[in-house]
Amino acid sequence: MNRITIVTVGLGLVGLLSLTAVGQAQHVHGHSMIKEGTPGDSHPDERAALGLSQAAEAGLKLTMREHLEAIRDIVASLSRQEFDAAAKVAHEELGFPKHHQAMERESGATFPPKYHELAMAHHQEAEDLAKVLSSKDLKTILPKLEKTIEACVSCHRAYKL
Ligand code: HEC
Repeated sequence: MNRITIVTVGLGLVGLLSLTAVGQAQHVHGHSMIKEGTPGDSHPDERAALGLSQAAEAGLKLTMREHLEAIRDIVASLSRQEFDAAAKVAHEELGFPKHHQAMERESGATFPPKYHELAMAHHQEAEDLAKVLSSKDLKTILPKLEKTIEACVSCHRAYKL
């Protein structure tokens, strides 16, 4: 091997080695990102378990899936500027009438007082949203929609089945 060949092979090796290092760093990084949401790791799951019966759990989950559909329907109505339709969904599907239906579905289960408060706060936010929808003013409506969704998030952070 002449001098030039040795230098070229040497540079090639350095290049390969640094590529491997980058690859490993990316692998480690990707791995730690996946781990982040895993309960019991660096982010422990601090939500309180409700410990419901199977029937009550099924009822609660059904209500929850309808809640998500209600949010979808409200956003869809807003995008078509159908404010009355959005108000009807906010009141009937997320407001106080929904609470009675939810309780019937949860077959007499008892909930911690804090859970009950979060549930009531979420119905109240939805009723507030229903009221401001008649303004037809997105600058007034969207902050109330955000608060309604924030009420979902607050409870999901605190409780699990
Ligand atoms: C007062 C508490 C509370 C409020 C308010 C609440 N949720 Fe939930 N939700 C729960 C609990 C508890 C679970 C079960 C979560 C778990 O075990 O990981 C759940 C689960 C869900 C699920 C999963 C359902 C399934 O079939 O597994 C969806 C979707 C959902 N919620 C949507 C919503 C939306 C949208 C809102 C707001 C409009 C909302 N929730 C408001 C308590 C709440």
